[in-house]
Parts: sequence; C-alpha cells; structure tokens
Amino acid sequence: MFITLEGIEGSGKSTQVRRLAERIPNSLATKEPGGTPTADRIRAILLDTASTIDPVAEVFLFAASRRQHVTEVIRPALEAGRVVLCDRFADATLAYQGFGRLLDLDRLRWLNDWATGSLYPDLTLIFDLPEEVGLSRARSRNSAAPVDEGRFETEDLRFFRRVREGYLALAVAEPHRYAVVDASGTPDDVFEKTLDVLRRRLPQVLA
Ligand code: TYD
Repeated sequence: MFITLEGIEGSGKSTQVRRLAERIPNSLATKEPGGTPTADRIRAILLDTASTIDPVAEVFLFAASRRQHVTEVIRPALEAGRVVLCDRFADATLAYQGFGRLLDLDRLRWLNDWATGSLYPDLTLIFDLPEEVGLSRARSRNSAAPVDEGRFETEDLRFFRRVREGYLALAVAEPHRYAVVDASGTPDDVFEKTLDVLRRRLPQVLA
C-alpha cells in the first residue's frame, strides 16, 4: 500500500507521518523532495533561497527527485510488501506548480506519470486548513529554529490559497483517490481524524 500526505506548509503532515509510521506495522516513512542521496542534492537546490529557478526548470527538478526516489526507495519497499507513507508526492506538483504557479496541468500529469512509471498512491490524505493559519504556524516554527525555511515559504498568501484550493479540487474530482482531513485542530485531534479515515478506507494497514 502506498499512502501519500499532502497539504500546504504548516498543515502538520510531517507530525502525522511520524505518528502513522509508529501506528502502522511494517511501514516506511519518507518525504519529497529528497529521500535518496541524489534526490537530497536536488532538494538542496530547490529549497535554496539563493537559487534562481525558472518555473519550468523547477518542475523538472521535482520530477528528477521523484524519479530517483520512486526507483531507489518507494518501489523496492512496495515490492517488499511494506506500507509506504510519503510526505508529499506527485500531487504536490499539481498543487504547487499547477494551481500555485499556473503551469499547464495536463503536462504536469504527463510528466508525473513518466517520472513515477505510472505509480499512483492507493490513498492521498490532504491535510486542509486556511492558508493564513498554515503559514503562521510554519513561520513561527521557522523563527524558533530558523534552519530550512526554503523558497516556498516566502510566497504570498494568494499563492497558498491557490495551492490549497488546488488540493481540494483534486479531491473533488477523484474522491476515491483522496481523503480530506481537517488539519486545524491539535496534533492529537488530527491524528484521530486520520485514523478514522484509514479505518474506513484502508483498514488492512492498521491490522
Ligand atoms: P519542505 O521543507 O519539505 O516543506 P514541507 O515540510 O512543508 O513539506 O519543502 C518542500 C517545498 O517544496 C514545499 O514548499 C512544497 C514544495 N513542493 C513543490 O512545490 N512541488 C513538489 O512537487 C513538491 C514535492 C514540493
């Protein structure tokens, strides 16, 4: 089983991935961009506030990182029968580069399909909350530990509103592929909601 977690910055995905990995037997938690030595080098370019990256070039970097990650980590783990939990995946390209940067969605879908060898998640959890709440959470986290702020957190609220609405539009279009989780509560509340979704949608992974 392949489960991905998506949402804007500050939606608490990373905390939920960690907690799910403790709760789901034989699971592997990983994240994008990055996840292999080469993909981590691409991640460093992508998040470096000093890099000037053309929006289309940015898409190819995410796709290159994803390809490497699928080939070296995700597919082997799935073939070994593990439950893979991935913090961001192909839907992030649709939401950020498609809805956020307004690049053509059909091309992005095609590129994702090529990069992943047509690997699609069994379930994508979208952690949804208002963009102003997410961004203020992310910014207070960064001022507490100003390490890896990244280029995306300097985007404005309108960008994140489009990203959020993009994720919700994906979920509406393909309800069997996605589940939207209200991420505005405490980490415990959100975890309970996440488990409820899994009990309904993929009970076998909790066994
Ligand atoms: P990261 O520090 O991993 O953020 P987070 O903890 O919020 O996941 O930074 C990843 C950034 O890259 C994040 O702002 C979302 C963005 N992104 C894209 O724009 N497209 C993509 O395909 C992916 C995977 C991430």
